[in-house]
Amino acid sequence: MTVSSAPGKVYLFGEHAVVYGEPAVPCAIERRATVTVDARDDDHIRVEARDLSLDGFTVEYADDTAERPDVDVPEDLVDAAMGYIDAAVEQARDAADAPDAGFDIIVESQIPLGAGLGSSAAVVVAGIDAATRELGVQLSPEAIADRAYRAEYDVQDGQASRADTFCSAMGGAVRVEGDNCSRIEAPNLPFVVGFDGGAGDTGELVAGVRELRDEYDFAADTVESIGDIVRSGEALLTDADPAAEPMPELLAELGRLMDFDHGLLEALGVSSRTLDNMVWAAREAGAHGAKLTGAGGGGCIVALDPTPETRTALRYTAECRDTFRAELDREGVRAASASANDGDRDETESEAT
Ligand code: PMV
Repeated sequence: MTVSSAPGKVYLFGEHAVVYGEPAVPCAIERRATVTVDARDDDHIRVEARDLSLDGFTVEYADDTAERPDVDVPEDLVDAAMGYIDAAVEQARDAADAPDAGFDIIVESQIPLGAGLGSSAAVVVAGIDAATRELGVQLSPEAIADRAYRAEYDVQDGQASRADTFCSAMGGAVRVEGDNCSRIEAPNLPFVVGFDGGAGDTGELVAGVRELRDEYDFAADTVESIGDIVRSGEALLTDADPAAEPMPELLAELGRLMDFDHGLLEALGVSSRTLDNMVWAAREAGAHGAKLTGAGGGGCIVALDPTPETRTALRYTAECRDTFRAELDREGVRAASASANDGDRDETESEAT
């Protein structure tokens, strides 16, 4: 049995624009997906997913993935989760030159699905690491990031940047511009996340921005302006002392850039009323800045606030289902112990073959 975990992330700046070659700065956060893998004697894949939905589910299949099991969760959720796990398994089989390897897989996640916190990237990264190590192959975090990107690219029909997968594999704050990915030494920023309980459709949202950008020069300029914001924010981060508490002036400047970024994302049509309401609740509570994170349409916002005020305000905001502080996680994908998974098992999962 082999267990790996990998972090989720928030975008400090740059989602959507990164799809068109502008830079982005995602930051890994201390919320992880954990994947446990056991090699099987046959070529079947059995997946038990917990916490991806309220009830969790278990499915087992061999080659014929078209015949989907009858499980008590929405089909698109099963398809989404299974698609990423399938793609991770394919990458692991390829890396280990073991095309017929079969696995029992358990996925546990502290990251809400499709909410802009990089849940799918974390599952794919941890899944590739656990499955390759189970087959006796140790990949570097960079190699896992690359394979995870290819897996996401396949599942998302080419509508994926390297941002989520590189950030999850490497940890910390990272900079992604096209195929160029690197770590940034950043201070621990006081992130507060607000979650509306929903999810956006990344493919649809990316397609919407692409259409606007193709139709209007000012939309293309908006995407480029997001790139300018990222470059300004990145310069602030690289000038800061990564070991020190961030100075209020730095937080104020980063916050102003986050507010600007959210405004441009809103103009590109990827925000929503619930995300905007949470952003405004955070700003009115005194956060240095607030913006949506990830694809948008619903899901999460991220605010900068070292005080408890933003979380308190979000708790009293009708649109906010959950709020939490998200520490920067400087560690990316890592081996986890099997016992880490034994604690809070959900007994409500259903099983189908
Ligand atoms: O919502 P998430 O965490 O999947 O982030 C999507 C970010 C986009 O820039 C919209 C797409 C991408 O692949 O970078």
